[in-house]
Amino acid sequence: MKILGNYPGVRLRRNRKYNWSRRLVAENNLSVSDLILPIFVTEGKNKIEAIKVMPGVFRYSIDKLSRVVNQASKLKIPLVAIFPHTSYKKKDPYGSEGLNEDNLVCKAIRKIKKNNPNIGVMADVALDPYTDHGHDGILKNKEILNDETVEILSQQALIQAQMGCDVIAPSDMMDGRVGVIRKTLDENDFKNVQILSYAAKYASNFYGPFRNAVGSINKLKGNKKSYQMDYKNSSEAIREVALDIKEGADFVMVKPALPYLDVIKLVKDNFRIPVFGYQVSGEYTMIAQSIKNNTLKKEAILESLMSIKRAGASAIVTYFALEIAKKLK
Ligand code: PBG
Repeated sequence: MKILGNYPGVRLRRNRKYNWSRRLVAENNLSVSDLILPIFVTEGKNKIEAIKVMPGVFRYSIDKLSRVVNQASKLKIPLVAIFPHTSYKKKDPYGSEGLNEDNLVCKAIRKIKKNNPNIGVMADVALDPYTDHGHDGILKNKEILNDETVEILSQQALIQAQMGCDVIAPSDMMDGRVGVIRKTLDENDFKNVQILSYAAKYASNFYGPFRNAVGSINKLKGNKKSYQMDYKNSSEAIREVALDIKEGADFVMVKPALPYLDVIKLVKDNFRIPVFGYQVSGEYTMIAQSIKNNTLKKEAILESLMSIKRAGASAIVTYFALEIAKKLK
């Protein structure tokens, strides 16, 4: 009999035989410190609204926000990310509400920094929660204007920093925005505010439930392919990341995560900067809705998160953060 490798002397199954042994040789691990919790906020009072398309995820009015932030804080989740559900009457073509110091995000940042000073707060920089056309920038003659948008975004970032935001996260995919935001923050004495750049953000079909959650889905005119990345590309992600690092990003995001594990790995292998993965709303619903058995579902969530870590992510934005933090405890 022809024997491949060194079998029967070598048997890889030996290391897998016992739980203690599998633990000893585990190459990757997931801990609560790897989790970033997205939180949706909404107008009004006394509201904890279920989001129909994302079972298990809620929108909180500002007065109820502490409930979920306290939970995250107790579980030692390091960072929460705030996303606003803005009422349509506050939206306009320029996303002016994004520059209102009393908008939902600003209120949320102030509240969290006051009540939970030990948890990090991150806020997206982009205009889509505030524009009546649903795009991340200014729309003119069917074009999303780059430079004009970047000016507004840098003001939005500055206001969020003034409110106490720890991590500014440009998710708009305009060219050059990280540099302009860094400069604006520095000139205004916010040298220590971090920038998490959504450097490789794809024009993905997995954002649907999120757009529903923030109320932009029925309003979006066209698609975002003229600024978000084409899912056929990965070398281009390296250029995006290289530029954002030069412009001053402290960490970079790859988004979505599961269909883009190759991109996470590519970024990890090419740069010495922390890379995060965003397990987006469509990934969440696929897992949350397809597995009914709770134990099996939790295992599947862990498997998906571990794969993102294995690809090279140092942290993961996930709507499963609370559930998994409890399980990891
Ligand atoms: C918008 C933004 C999006 C998400 C986060 N910020 C959607 C989009 O680009 O249209 C998606 C997150 C998710 O699907 O979970 N700046």
